[in-house]
Amino acid sequence: MAKPNQSAGRRSPRVRLALRLLLLILTPLLVAFLLAAQLGDFDPVPFPAGFDSPEIAAVYKNHRAVLGKESERLGDGLLPGPEDLAYDAKEGFIYTGCNDGWIRRFRPAEKGFQDWAYVGGRPLGVALSPDGSIVVAEAYKGLLKVNEDGKVNLLTDEAEGLKFKLTDGVDVSSDGLIYFTDASHKYDIEDHVLEFLEGRPNGRLISFDPSNNQTTVLARDLYFANGVAVSPDQLSLIFCESSLRRCSRYFIKGEKKGEIDKFVENLPGYPDNIKYDGEGQYWIGLSGGRSKLWDLILKYPLLRKFLMILSKLVSLPPPKEGGVVSVNLEGRLKALYSDRDLPSVTCGLKVGKHLYLGSISKGYILRIDLLKFEADK
Ligand SMILES: *[C@@H]1O[C@H](CO)[C@@H](O)[C@H](O)[C@H]1NC(C)=O
Repeated sequence: MAKPNQSAGRRSPRVRLALRLLLLILTPLLVAFLLAAQLGDFDPVPFPAGFDSPEIAAVYKNHRAVLGKESERLGDGLLPGPEDLAYDAKEGFIYTGCNDGWIRRFRPAEKGFQDWAYVGGRPLGVALSPDGSIVVAEAYKGLLKVNEDGKVNLLTDEAEGLKFKLTDGVDVSSDGLIYFTDASHKYDIEDHVLEFLEGRPNGRLISFDPSNNQTTVLARDLYFANGVAVSPDQLSLIFCESSLRRCSRYFIKGEKKGEIDKFVENLPGYPDNIKYDGEGQYWIGLSGGRSKLWDLILKYPLLRKFLMILSKLVSLPPPKEGGVVSVNLEGRLKALYSDRDLPSVTCGLKVGKHLYLGSISKGYILRIDLLKFEADK
């Protein structure tokens, strides 16, 4: 019986040449096809002019605040990815949402962290509601409410016929209205880097009214819509757009109701959650500092395409020098607390003399005593 490979050995040189040529043509075609398949409908476009404007400077700075000796780690190993923090002044609890789907809480003066409520998925924004419940922006499911007894309800997961894909930041006004963001209706949290890199505004600012269960879109076409904080006079709210390094004011009531004004632009990093401290300052987590490298990446859509393919193979390094800034009621940048090797700070919560820092990737909350370690001129 003739073996099949005997005939292969007798191929004429011409056939072999043809095969080789075919391979030479097909290989690049196949690679191009595979790369294009990786891109999917990822279609980066230029960011609006001025996105790479120089950052504004804080009046007071502390660049070794976070990883140096000046801070302490709370709940190390017990709080995986405590992204956002909320304070219940009445009960003295600080709440946080972790990457294992748990909402945990602790009293700063006491030892111990409680597994308080399991919401599943990836809880991001957390806020205290006047009725004592905790409202959660859960990345996958949408807006959730956790009652005081720990029972979880879905409040809303779509608006104007468009499902939320990355519910992100939340705050509640004193009359119980809930204000929140969906960072993207296109990419979920696994692909949040793509939302960032694509440069298309897929984010929305939304309200939910518990008295009639109504979901209302307040602003569309936002660039990575992130943290939300209602102003102390309850007339407006501040919301952050991470990829444009800016936060804007949306008017809830009054003459300018429904309008949007500039609040603070050209921040020294990419803003995440924003919290009001009850003492005249908003605190904004910066998930990373502005850098020449990231300016370059954001400048060229083609480079972002390349990076997108690369990001399937290796994880991209997050921007460095994360931290927290404080901004006064007029949008003036006051203090910056940062550290060179600290990425992914997502929240700064001030309670008394302490600043608590949440992070999407670390396994603990950092705490800084602001009286002992002031930021300097
Ligand atoms: C709002 O939705 C909740 C849960 O689905 C329901 O129990 C409640 O009756 C609704 N309220 C109104 C005013 O429709």
